[in-house]
Amino acid sequence: MKVGIDIVEVKRIDKLVKNKRFLERVYTPQEVKYCISKKNAGQHFAVRFATKEAVWKAFNDKSITHKDIGVMNLPSGKPQAVIKGKRKKNIDISLSHTSDYAVAVAVVK
Ligand SMILES: CC(C)(COP(=O)(O)OP(=O)(O)OC[C@H]1O[C@@H](n2cnc3c(N)ncnc32)[C@H](O)[C@@H]1OP(=O)(O)O)[C@@H](O)C(=O)NCCC(=O)NCCS
Repeated sequence: MKVGIDIVEVKRIDKLVKNKRFLERVYTPQEVKYCISKKNAGQHFAVRFATKEAVWKAFNDKSITHKDIGVMNLPSGKPQAVIKGKRKKNIDISLSHTSDYAVAVAVVK
């Protein structure tokens, strides 16, 4: 079993996502759609950035890029990690965010 964790400042990501190049390089179209549909979009973008870093830390594989790792939410709201469009059943993630910070934990079984 492998674990990864990351914490990010929401205001840092909120600034970065205003840059279209950053947005397109880091997030999947599905993630962008999800985040912009929310009232506090910056928090949702931030927690997804933290998730990408946490999943990357768990895998520790330099060939995986930010955009290869995505988050999709089940109808219940529970998030699932997606790698290159394929849902991997062996990755568990848990996310939390406030107006200041977003944190993600990933466990690869
Ligand atoms: C869903 C819930 C857990 C979210 O918690 P919150 O404190 O409001 O918000 P957080 O910032 O900590 O977490 C938000 C993230 O939780 C995740 N989440 C949402 N629904 C979830 C679910 N059913 N299961 C797991 N994770 C969930 C999402 O990833 C969400 O972020 P996203 O929308 O950007 O993907 C909360 O609203 C809830 O329903 N709690 C019920 C708790 C309860 O019944 N407690 C009694 C026993 S202790």
